[in-house]
Amino acid sequence: MQKLLTGLQPSGALHIGNYFGALKPFVELAYEYESTLMIADYHALTSLRNPRELRQNIVSVAKDYIAAGIDPQKSIIFKQSDVPEHTELAWIFQCLVTVPFLERSHAYKDKVAKGLEANAGLFAYPMLMAADILLYDTDVVPVGEDQRQHVEYARDIAAKFNNAYGETFKPPKEHVLKGVAVVPGIDGKKMSKSYGNTIPLFGTKDEIAKAVMSIITDSKAESPENVYAIHALLKERDDLSELYKDNKGKYKVLKEALIEDIEALVAPMRSLRDSISDADAKAVLKEGSEKARARASSKMADVRKKIGVSL
Ligand code: TYM
Repeated sequence: MQKLLTGLQPSGALHIGNYFGALKPFVELAYEYESTLMIADYHALTSLRNPRELRQNIVSVAKDYIAAGIDPQKSIIFKQSDVPEHTELAWIFQCLVTVPFLERSHAYKDKVAKGLEANAGLFAYPMLMAADILLYDTDVVPVGEDQRQHVEYARDIAAKFNNAYGETFKPPKEHVLKGVAVVPGIDGKKMSKSYGNTIPLFGTKDEIAKAVMSIITDSKAESPENVYAIHALLKERDDLSELYKDNKGKYKVLKEALIEDIEALVAPMRSLRDSISDADAKAVLKEGSEKARARASSKMADVRKKIGVSL
């Protein structure tokens, strides 16, 4: 059976961009693959330095995964930091690549372009992500467009390692769905925690309504482009074009319709989420991490032998 793996950072509450870009495609494919979903807590450490918040986010994201339809009996759900083989392999990969190779990373370049200080963790980030993917012989990685380059990095490093030490890693392929590759935020730019333009996935109805009501609209246009772009994730184009034709220029009505459509999607997931306790979420992670660790450690035994550190 082919293998599917993806990960999300627990750096804040998940938003609908995370859902449509990664979680929903994962859920749709999960049954056809041997599937693994990871909480990328060491990746979150590149931007989050509040231990209490990180702890809460990890448990919260585990609940989000289950509520979004990922069955922990069928998919492994685990926490990256529980499997130290990830950071170990990332180090080995870092020793195989050059600084200019890593300087091409968009995530790093964007931060530097904004005048922000990038830590060395952010610089080496693609190598940790490559380790996440390659440790499990992953075939397919469902992600949003912003992560495409990172999967390319994983392919490149797999080839570099295989070239240096012999056939070890399988080249993975990204799965980026057209139409949801870049979900726009309330300002029309890519929805992102770091831009503060998100619609929370598991917010209350009021929180979702507040975010939708603040979607920026062009007062001259008949159809509010930014509202439509998000609406198109939830409804068939034919239904939407009728709705938007009948309500030309009525932004409030259209935003209210969008709130109801998001609510129809989220309400059942939200009530499932409310029924999951912190203890349930932690138990799922514990069991998942044990399974992941067993796989990762046998792969790493082979890697250590190949690079010459196992005597
Ligand atoms: P992260 O946590 O930034 O985002 C998680 C997933 O959500 C997708 N996404 C979006 N998709 C469409 N439109 C948007 N506006 C949008 N915003 C976010 C992202 O593309 C991603 O798929 N490095 C990764 C986490 C990671 C990972 C991995 C992923 C770590 N190891 C291994 C796959 C495999 C990240 O920071 O995603």
